[in-house]
Amino acid sequence: MSGVNEIRSKFLDFFAENGHEIVASSPLVPRNDPTLMFTNAGMVQFKNVFTGVEKRPYQRATTSQKCVRAGGKHNDLDNVGYTARHLTFFEMLGNFSFGDYFKERAIELAWNLITKEFGLKKDKLLVTIYHDDEEAARHWKNIAGFSDDRIIRIATSDNFWAMGDTGPCGPCSEIFIDRGEHIWGGPPGSPEEDGDRFLEFWNLVFMQFEQVTKDERVALPRPSIDTGMGLERMACILQGVDSVFETDLFRHLIDAAASALGHGPEEQTVASFRVIADHLRSSAFLVADGVLPSNEGRGYVLRRIMRRAMRHAQLLGAREPLMHRLVWALVREMGQAYPDLVRAETLIEETLRLEETRFRKTLERGLAILDEKSAGLKKGDMFDGDTAFTLYDTYGFPLDLTQDALKSRGISVDQAAFSDAMERQRVKARASWAGSGEAASENVWFPLREKLGATEFLGYDTESAEGVVTALVKDGRDADSLKTGESGAIVLNQTPFYAESGGQVGDIGLLTGEGVKFRVTDTQKKAGDLFVHLGTVEQGTLKTGTALQLEVDHARRSSIRAHHSATHLLHEALRQVLGDHIAQRGSLVAPDRLRFDFVHPKPITAEELARVEDIANEVVLENDEVTTRLMAVDDAREAGARALFGEKYGDEVRVVSMGKQARAHGQNALGWSVELCGGTHVRRTGDIGLISVTGESAVASGVRRIEALTGRHARKHANDTMAIAKTAAFELRTSVDDMPARIAALMEERKKLERDLSDARKKLAMGGGAGNGAAAGGVREAGGVKLLARAVEGVETKDLKSLVDDGKKQIGSGVVAIVGVTEDGKAGIVVGVTADLTARFNAVELVRKGSEALGGKGGGGRPDMAQAGGPDGAKANAALSAIEQAMADA
Ligand code: ALA
Repeated sequence: MSGVNEIRSKFLDFFAENGHEIVASSPLVPRNDPTLMFTNAGMVQFKNVFTGVEKRPYQRATTSQKCVRAGGKHNDLDNVGYTARHLTFFEMLGNFSFGDYFKERAIELAWNLITKEFGLKKDKLLVTIYHDDEEAARHWKNIAGFSDDRIIRIATSDNFWAMGDTGPCGPCSEIFIDRGEHIWGGPPGSPEEDGDRFLEFWNLVFMQFEQVTKDERVALPRPSIDTGMGLERMACILQGVDSVFETDLFRHLIDAAASALGHGPEEQTVASFRVIADHLRSSAFLVADGVLPSNEGRGYVLRRIMRRAMRHAQLLGAREPLMHRLVWALVREMGQAYPDLVRAETLIEETLRLEETRFRKTLERGLAILDEKSAGLKKGDMFDGDTAFTLYDTYGFPLDLTQDALKSRGISVDQAAFSDAMERQRVKARASWAGSGEAASENVWFPLREKLGATEFLGYDTESAEGVVTALVKDGRDADSLKTGESGAIVLNQTPFYAESGGQVGDIGLLTGEGVKFRVTDTQKKAGDLFVHLGTVEQGTLKTGTALQLEVDHARRSSIRAHHSATHLLHEALRQVLGDHIAQRGSLVAPDRLRFDFVHPKPITAEELARVEDIANEVVLENDEVTTRLMAVDDAREAGARALFGEKYGDEVRVVSMGKQARAHGQNALGWSVELCGGTHVRRTGDIGLISVTGESAVASGVRRIEALTGRHARKHANDTMAIAKTAAFELRTSVDDMPARIAALMEERKKLERDLSDARKKLAMGGGAGNGAAAGGVREAGGVKLLARAVEGVETKDLKSLVDDGKKQIGSGVVAIVGVTEDGKAGIVVGVTADLTARFNAVELVRKGSEALGGKGGGGRPDMAQAGGPDGAKANAALSAIEQAMADA
């Protein structure tokens, strides 16, 4: 017997031996398709290869592709648990030819694999073909030796495969096995075809066309092959069991549930066990691929799947959250084939536990209401739509959960009434929006938000994707189109572009489509969660409905990620160095810098700043994984997550953690730095490269700001600084290392030179130089006492006093008057009177006389020493004469 893991390997190896490249499964959230909710077939990742838009280095490929069919064109959710073969998550094994081999070889390869490798008996097999595909009929006859009655012609879309409403498509041929009379059912095309006796297990699609729009279909450049074998179905066949849920992999999952619950499946409960096993797989793989439960889009489909499983856990008597306790078993079964599952194990467990804990709070009450309101109903009756809406709105029961709960009793839900109730609530919500006071120019966004719903943000996991234009806005109004050269705003159904929020700037990049190009210069959020791409059309005309390839400017975004993660590290480092009072007040996360404002009463010392930088860089070097979780806001706070004070958060928040918890004083369970944050971050802290704090300043009283750079920008900053240092060292004729000592020595030398220069000037001034025409030394007589009067140049006013003191000592008794003329032609004047003469001459009065002559006013000091100034240095001698005169007159 072949286990699921062996069958998968056998398939891939067979095609590898036949010249096919083994390609890894693509994520469940398609990167390259705007119309698809989840990857639902192996060909999705090759869509653009089929149409010729994308080239790959191989022409044949084989994959084992993760698929989810829940929501969207292919939706199996409602059937799961009640049939033997429907699953929301399954693995599709496929082989692909991109213009290489076509129908004949595809049929031959398929036939060889199933009959020779897998050993299926020819007489149990039959195929369907598209009704007019004569070529396929001929090859089946030749290769398999089938008679006409084993080649069933089908004219419906069952045998014309299309991925979605648009995209590559073509006629197909499905291979069936007859599992025997003991199972009810008839061959394809017969009235009993829905039974499980004839099981389709492999679909060979002959890709020949591309559905461009609803009405237009064109031929593909090169006819190609796309096949899809349901791995679980093949396991079912090879293991000789009737239902996919009896294969080894599912048995192990059901066993894990049975042991967690303390009892195994019985006739009444088997459907619940099956739902749990299937939904465990889809939930876990979706979370691993970046989907988290929410109330819109993909997140809502995930929530519906999770809650459906959780209701069945409740039905089985689980008293505590169950789903998260089964994750280990899934990882054991499938982790080897899908390493992403192993990496995300903790995240999956936490997400399931949170969702189940929250849902259980209302589940019991909701189920009680459901029982009560349906008690009187019988098979064929309809359940009241208003109650279904209350269950939805107040108790978190998605509509399909209510439907599922009533299905076994043959009761349906009044969906029209449910929709009416929903609409009434929307009208109420709109009324409260109208009162929310947005500027009139912003009015355009609210109706758009209401019509289009929230934009689905893909940018946590990818920076390129496809999207469809859902609205265009020009000059504040709805527009039908945007032409070359016109600027405006574009709304898309989904986008990898981050819209400015939480301090992180909006992304820029390029949107391209057939003949159109739009350059995005900013991305903003409007009306809550509508992502708006602002920019200019560079080529062509954009219309709503246009599908576009969306490319975020990758280099810029990487740098933004690094700056955002660095902000978190600096925040925690600041807290460790400065204390627990550090609270964020604001931040800017840009591609080329970051700044972070926080509460702290005083400037940060250089030494503290250096420690902050060191600590943050240590975590960078540890290169730990950065993880994101969705948590209940209270749990997040309890886990030590830092949040912006006064900020409103929803019930559930994204929590970003990085670094090892062991370093964080023991109390942080989730990591070294844990913050509520909707921003985009690096995968590992090492991706930050380097953090360099470049500044610290005050922004308001009690609020400080630090600025920093990361990665390339930090390195450039360091390089530039080093280049300046080298130039300086060169000028100083020394090395960078010796520069501080050299500068200190130069400063010391300069001080000494200044002192010497000043002394020399004074000596020069008193010993000769610019005199006033009087005798050498400038000593004369006035009013019967000695007067030493000099005009000097190049001596600073502050030094005049010491010159006057020197002069007083020199003459012993008398008056000293010195005018100093500065470089800009102004004058300072100081007059000194020796102590024995202060009764006769007052220095203050004398200095005023001198100052008047210099065109100045006033002056001040003491009777033995006074100082004044004047604008007119050319009158220095006149000033001295005025003093001499005043002394003579005294
Ligand atoms: N793409 C084809 C399918 O999903 C093979 O059935």
